Amino acid sequence: MCGIVGYAGHRPAVPLVVEELHRLEYRGYDSSGVACVQQGRIRVVRAQGKLSQLEQLLSQQPPSTATTGMGHTRWATHGAPAVRNAHPHTSNDGTMALVHNGIIENYLEIKNDLQARGYVFHSDTDTEVLVNLIQECRKSEPDIQKAFAAALNMAHGAYAVCLMTESEPDVFYAARMSAPLILGVGTGENFVASDIPAFLPYTRRVVFLEDGEMVRVTCSSYEVRKIADLAPVQARVETIEWDVQAAQKSGYRHFMLKEIFEQPKVIRDGLTGRLSADRGGVTLHELDGLPVPSRLSIVACGTSSHAGMWGRHMLEALAEIPVQVEIASEYRYKEKLLFQPGEMVLVISQSGETADTLAALRRARECGATVLGLCNVVGSSIARESDAVLYTQAGPEISVASTKAMCSQMLLLALMSLYWGGRKGLVDSSKCSAMLGTLLSLPGMLEKALPEMHERAITLSRKYAQSRNFFYLGRGHCYPLALEGALKLKELSYIHAEGYASGEMKHGPIALIDSTFPTFAICLNDELLPKVKSNIVEVQARQGRVIAVTNAGVDVPAEDLWVVPDVPSTLAGFVVLPAVQLFSYEMADYLGKDVDQPRNLAKSVTVE
Ligand code: F6R
Repeated sequence: MCGIVGYAGHRPAVPLVVEELHRLEYRGYDSSGVACVQQGRIRVVRAQGKLSQLEQLLSQQPPSTATTGMGHTRWATHGAPAVRNAHPHTSNDGTMALVHNGIIENYLEIKNDLQARGYVFHSDTDTEVLVNLIQECRKSEPDIQKAFAAALNMAHGAYAVCLMTESEPDVFYAARMSAPLILGVGTGENFVASDIPAFLPYTRRVVFLEDGEMVRVTCSSYEVRKIADLAPVQARVETIEWDVQAAQKSGYRHFMLKEIFEQPKVIRDGLTGRLSADRGGVTLHELDGLPVPSRLSIVACGTSSHAGMWGRHMLEALAEIPVQVEIASEYRYKEKLLFQPGEMVLVISQSGETADTLAALRRARECGATVLGLCNVVGSSIARESDAVLYTQAGPEISVASTKAMCSQMLLLALMSLYWGGRKGLVDSSKCSAMLGTLLSLPGMLEKALPEMHERAITLSRKYAQSRNFFYLGRGHCYPLALEGALKLKELSYIHAEGYASGEMKHGPIALIDSTFPTFAICLNDELLPKVKSNIVEVQARQGRVIAVTNAGVDVPAEDLWVVPDVPSTLAGFVVLPAVQLFSYEMADYLGKDVDQPRNLAKSVTVE
């Protein structure tokens, strides 16, 4: 959703806060703002649009000398993208400013009450309500920390907030409830941010704040307390291993392209330390203490749910575990969650903060299920609340559209299949060494293939960029990749695209096919090849143009062939995935779309 940052230190705060916001812009980019205390008064600067608009505005004003400040980059929830709804929001008395990521669910109730007490609102946001509630609480409790906690205790919902006041110009307060917030511990300076890359150039030492915690921060101190009763909390400082370089573009035109090209490394890193002589050739210590699930419900959203669908094929084939894949936003509201003995839930989330997935996890745990988490972001809410967590180790994914995260999720799902299959005695040594041999060969193979695949994507995008609709077809383990291809195309290039199981076409969708409605078919050299070929012929019979991703030497009746390296069937998804990603990337870039920050989207969807 939105990105928030707070800084207390020895450097000029405003430029530093803006610099940090740049590294969080993937979280929201419809407006932004900063606040500090200047000559004893709260000073707020806000702008609609991207951060460059804010920078332009700031450049027209006298520079600030403040060394404490905070900022916000917004993805609209309450209220349209507009300056009046941009953060920071100030209290009616002008003494406090607040930035907020999340949603205060009972804000209307509070707003009505405050209005009855004479408060006036200038925005449509729940944030302005909260900052005025703090002002109201200060009437009976002048201590800022206590008033802040009192207001937060009245607010229901999800938030990460940062507060500054006129009376303490060198202090900021921050708090979290179901939205990410990390404290960065520096030397003579301290930070908070919605995500670590914001302050990573300045410190690697972090405290992952927990839900229900708040912190008072100065340049030389931080005190973490419980919001409920202000009881002190012993904060644990951890060190981040990855570096700034991993969160920068490294010469690529966009983060998305860089992240697609990082997939060989993601596979290599994901395999490191995971291979062993037993248990299907795979070691997953995280799962050693748990039984092998009798059934598995995989719960996720968007791209992560496509990874789950892909993993189902592997888990069923190798470990003989019956799997169902559920969309988290549906699962969390199911009338009943029915579990069979030994069944487990696996939640998949790159960010580890997706609100629907987190809520599904909580509901499943309340119902007594053991929940496994598959996450990329270390210390994220889903990672911390799962009974066991497997990290995908893909490094920071900055582009809003998820790419390398899906690759890393698929890898871990393949490893889990081998591991559980091994524990059940289902994976014999020849199957095991064949699978591991293929997995180990993937990084090198992809490193060689990706530049050529990129070229092919460039050529095809020029040919098909004028299409307004697309079908993506795949069967079996390629069906989830068809869904992912369609999702990528629509979210990046705003071209309407639908993914279908190839055999479903003739049950309705084929009615749409004509010469202006192309199809992207995944047609690999495997046991389903004859079936997919027939489906392609059916499309062509309606004058539909077809791009077919296929293997060398396969005779496919398509207008455009895209030959990808041969990988044994079940793992072929690892080469199909970059093909669909690169095609969407090139289509969007050629059409002049904002690839890394597509309209209306945010990286981490921490609201329902
Ligand atoms: C698509 C995309 C989204 C996410 C979804 C879940 O490119 O990025 O569909 O996959 O919002 O996010 P995570 O995996 O963070 O739970």
